[in-house]
Amino acid sequence: MGQRRAAITALGTHVPERVMTNADFEKIVDTSDEWIRTRTGIQRRHVVEPGTPTSAIATLAAEDALRRRGIGAEELDLIVVATVTPDMPFPATAGLVQDRLGARRAWGFDVSAACSGFVYALTVGAQFIETGRHRKVMVLGADVMTSILDYKDRSTCVLFGDGAGAVILEPREDGTGILDFSHEVDGSGACYLNMPGGGSLRPASHETVDQRLHYIKQQGAHVFKYAVRKFADASQQILLRNDFTGTDLDLFVAHQANIRIIEAAQHRMGLPDAKVVKNIHEYGNTTAATIPLALKTALDEKRLAKGDLVLLAAVGAGFTVGSVLLRWSGVSWD
Ligand SMILES: CC(C)(COP(=O)(O)OP(=O)(O)OC[C@H]1O[C@@H](n2cnc3c(N)ncnc32)[C@H](O)[C@@H]1OP(=O)(O)O)[C@@H](O)C(=O)NCCC(=O)NCCS
Repeated sequence: MGQRRAAITALGTHVPERVMTNADFEKIVDTSDEWIRTRTGIQRRHVVEPGTPTSAIATLAAEDALRRRGIGAEELDLIVVATVTPDMPFPATAGLVQDRLGARRAWGFDVSAACSGFVYALTVGAQFIETGRHRKVMVLGADVMTSILDYKDRSTCVLFGDGAGAVILEPREDGTGILDFSHEVDGSGACYLNMPGGGSLRPASHETVDQRLHYIKQQGAHVFKYAVRKFADASQQILLRNDFTGTDLDLFVAHQANIRIIEAAQHRMGLPDAKVVKNIHEYGNTTAATIPLALKTALDEKRLAKGDLVLLAAVGAGFTVGSVLLRWSGVSWD
């Protein structure tokens, strides 16, 4: 028997049907399809009907994962939800998902790490499998970014979409599963990307609403430079310390924030297009959901097979940086 590892044994996703195209944004703010496409790679993003909470789309993704795995919600031991758009500051969205699913044996909590949320939550969930304490852990990345977008700020509102993804982690001893992770946080970057209002620092008030502080604020160019450097550094570092190079990699699954950030990392690692997943044109940046949605794209395109060496990588608000290296275990996908 090999070493016990936490393996992804199912994937489920949900994106809302409603779509906003770049042309739709041309009617709302001073922008153009050409600017958005060339600066970000985004063409469309899926958005919820107003009033739809994160727990609702997360539950749909969770149900999809359970159905594909062929198990009931009551088999789950733990639910970890990565999100920056919880239904409310508390209680945790994980509990709301647990209730909606009827996962009566599971405990759960949320992880707040913005765009790195999914890889952080995956790492947290994996620990409970590796120790042998749990046998079935569900990890979700879900965000309703439209609930915190300022449709008067052209530099942020065009970038994001809504979506959810769920994976089930189970023990495997056949060499597949999570091999390593490497995460960083640099809190000095907090000022460059945040939502300033509604927390204990600036509780909601008429003033915070008037100043539009309950929306995402970003200094895009600074975040861009940081992300380009860190994506490539973190990815190369985790490969190196596991005695791999870019050539050994079968698939690079990067957080989808900007096509230029992904391609910069791709070129530094010397990866051909066939080894890199890109779906930002369809979904925009769905924050915690981009990596499970990218895994879905890879599966739909039949680019993932059992035993493949896969690198997940993300950079996000915080700043947070995360990478997870794994050998794909195979999931049922029809
Ligand atoms: C947001 C982002 C696409 C902007 O691209 P950029 O090349 O850095 O552009 P800048 O921010 O320097 O802005 C350049 C110009 O475009 C303008 N601009 C910004 N948004 C625009 C839009 N939607 N349409 C048209 N023009 C726009 C700016 O006002 C600026 O104009 P100015 O030069 O007259 O002041 C890019 O910075 C980015 O992707 N940043 C990282 C985002 C990210 O990854 N965030 C999530 C965390 S991972």
